[in-house]
Amino acid sequence: MMWTIFLFGFAVLLYFALTHRSRSKTEPPLDKGFIPWLGHALEFGKDASKFLNRMKQKHGNIFTVHVVGRYVTVLLDPHSYDAVIGDSDSLDFTRYAQVLMDRIFNLQLPHHQPVKEKAIMKQHFFGMNLTSLNNAMSTHLKALLKAEIPSNRKDWKEEGLFNLSYGFLFKAGYLTLFGGEQNNNSTDPSSVYEEYRKFDGLLTKMARGTLKSAERRTAHSVRHRLCELLAPAGLSEDSGSSPWLHAYRRLLQEEGADEEMQKKAILMQLWATQGNVGPAAFWLLGHLLTHPDALTAVKREFSRISQMETSETALLDRLVNTPVFDSALEETLRLTAAPFITREVLKEKTLHMADGQEYLLRKGDRVCLFPFISPQMDPEIYHEPQKFKYNRFLNEDGSPKIDFYKGGRQLKYYTMPWGAGTNGCVGKQFAINTIRQFVYMLLTNYDLELCDPNAQLPEVNTGRYGFGMLQPEGDLLVRCKPRNAL
Ligand code: HEM
Ligand SMILES: *[C@@H]1O[C@H](CO)[C@@H](O)[C@H](O)[C@H]1NC(C)=O
Ligand SMILES: *[C@@H]1O[C@H](CO)[C@@H](O)[C@H](O)[C@H]1NC(C)=O
Ligand SMILES: *[C@@H]1O[C@H](CO)[C@@H](O)[C@H](O)[C@H]1NC(C)=O
Ligand SMILES: *[C@@H]1O[C@H](CO)[C@@H](O)[C@H](O)[C@H]1NC(C)=O
Repeated sequence: MMWTIFLFGFAVLLYFALTHRSRSKTEPPLDKGFIPWLGHALEFGKDASKFLNRMKQKHGNIFTVHVVGRYVTVLLDPHSYDAVIGDSDSLDFTRYAQVLMDRIFNLQLPHHQPVKEKAIMKQHFFGMNLTSLNNAMSTHLKALLKAEIPSNRKDWKEEGLFNLSYGFLFKAGYLTLFGGEQNNNSTDPSSVYEEYRKFDGLLTKMARGTLKSAERRTAHSVRHRLCELLAPAGLSEDSGSSPWLHAYRRLLQEEGADEEMQKKAILMQLWATQGNVGPAAFWLLGHLLTHPDALTAVKREFSRISQMETSETALLDRLVNTPVFDSALEETLRLTAAPFITREVLKEKTLHMADGQEYLLRKGDRVCLFPFISPQMDPEIYHEPQKFKYNRFLNEDGSPKIDFYKGGRQLKYYTMPWGAGTNGCVGKQFAINTIRQFVYMLLTNYDLELCDPNAQLPEVNTGRYGFGMLQPEGDLLVRCKPRNAL
């Protein structure tokens, strides 16, 4: 009896200790949820977009929620985003990135030098070096397409569009950046892809720490197999890896990372470089196939290029403009790119909102932007935001449209699929070139159509909000064969 009372008292004390935080007048509205410690974690994990929309209805454009022992201030006013993105002094990108590195990849780099890492990446993904990456990517894509859909094939190949897009782009990207010693069975890109997809399926749960015990075992063994497959990547000059990966390996060695850590770091780079491109190409092709007017417009633009003598180099080097394709891609990313932009508050900061309000951010909290809700799906900015309109980012005269408004003021950030500021995506141009190349090859050299002409795009997997490109629940069946096969 004594013990029961004691334990009960203890539980009550613990409850108040964990949830006692109260809001001061200068802080954003606080919403702790009913469950101690976990706070809003369950609702957040199930469908973050729905949850944050509900909080926005309740509290407005800024509020603080309690999630698994942490307080996260969510900011949803795009006019005020610069106050967060521009302040790398009080708000830190690296710490939260390291938390995720540890949870997903079990990676702890002893003398991590993120600034140097980024500088190496910039050196290799811009300018002339980008051109040679584009060329390598194009060669691999062509070879893979030919191998899986030979030009003398007369019948249709049926497949899920998501698996098809992700598969081709992952394998071509893997060969381009990681080498992969094509002749060695154990590092065959298809087996890396298959293992990677299993890993990817568990990734959001790893990041949230919500794996069930059977899932945890699977996650660990898949991660281990992937690390073994990646073991030779970037080590020797003849492994076929890119100069970037060699430079990255050297940096890891310089930092004193042992072999195990190096493999995990390479796996993390596989995720950073391959995890978003395939899903983005899927949504783009899926939207085109379910919107015949958009497909016709993109094909018309491509056919003008294919009539040029140097069509391919022109496309690779961005010597030709493709405003229609660019608009269709931008529209796709508006609808399906949903990253959180998260920063950790290193020292107390007053956040100045565009409307003149000021809020105090507490040291140790996190700040999170979710551009998917606003600007990307904001009905005040985009008429019928749920709809795919391939020419939304085109002016009447065919030039790119870049002026969008909220509250009568022009927006600096009208979509943010790549993040922004110093921590924005380094691979943006490479990713765009890759997707453009892939879609061009498919639409000019192959017949691609829906198996069921009335099929709709699959639903979104709502557990993936916050993790970059969304992924579908299920797939969209398409069929494909070489064009002009007699
Ligand atoms: C459609 C494809 C892609 C999308 C939508 C995408 C999106 C993003 C986003 C949202 C961020 C985080 C920004 C932030 O937190 O502030 C990011 C970071 C990054 N991305 Fe991408 N990305 C894509 C493809 C790529 C590719 C192909 C590469 C590799 C070449 C790449 C390399 C990186 C790197 C290295 C970072 C980390 C930047 C840092 O440490 O500050 N991404 N990307
Ligand atoms: C390309 O990469 C090399 C290192 O491999 C570097 O020395 C060079 O400066 C880079 N070129 C450009 C244009 O960034
Ligand atoms: C997914 O694609 C791979 C090739 O990239 C193929 O081997 C596999 O059978 C496909 N899976 C499904 C379910 O279509
Ligand atoms: C790959 O494996 C297959 C059978 O599993 C074998 O026939 C082939 O010779 C192997 N290729 C190489 C390059 O090891
Ligand atoms: C293939 O890769 C494995 C794993 O890294 C390695 O142990 C093996 O020696 C390689 N085989 C050949 C023929 O290169």
